[in-house]
Amino acid sequence: MRAAEIQDDLSEILVTEEQIREKLDELAARVAADYAGKDLLLVGVLKGAFVVMADFARALPMHAPIDFMAVSSYGASTKSSGVVQIRKDLDTDLHGKHVLIVEDIIDSGLTLSWLLENFESRGAESIEVLALLRKPEAAKVHIDCKYVGFDIPTEFVVGYGLDYAERYRNLRDVAVLAPHVYS
Ligand code: IMP
Ligand code: MG
Repeated sequence: MRAAEIQDDLSEILVTEEQIREKLDELAARVAADYAGKDLLLVGVLKGAFVVMADFARALPMHAPIDFMAVSSYGASTKSSGVVQIRKDLDTDLHGKHVLIVEDIIDSGLTLSWLLENFESRGAESIEVLALLRKPEAAKVHIDCKYVGFDIPTEFVVGYGLDYAERYRNLRDVAVLAPHVYS
């Protein structure tokens, strides 16, 4: 879906499809250099990360198995609750693995800080985070995120995997949702 096709629902396009593609190429080159010769596992956090995982994994010039975990922290609201629920666990044993968590967005950071603690207790060799988007001013906990695509303002965004009430995930760009849609 293109932004022009749902213009009335969006107040601003923040990051375009092209900008995302360029950024992911850049991050993929960095990751490949940092993990050369290592046993890298990509872990996507569903559902939001499915698009960034598909594009990032294909941009990555090295072998890396992919696993997914599904957690939910929002429901149909636009504010983080901090309550994390596992809906689908990993299939992979993390012992000895270099884990790179691939996330769509870091908002309050609550979901990731919970996940990082959870993964550490499973014996991963190392754990790093790649996030396409980050809202620095919304942080409630500090997350050491080694690979960040774009820092964005504290606004509710949709597209490129990100939803509002399960809609807009298939929008190609990242855009600010117009307030009339959720108020
Ligand atoms: P956090 O726990 O507040 O960092 O938020 C984590 C999750 O909330 C993300 O993985 C997203 O699924 C969702 N989320 C946070 N901000 C947004 C947004 O602006 N639009 C859509 N989903 C969001
Ligand atoms: Mg969501």
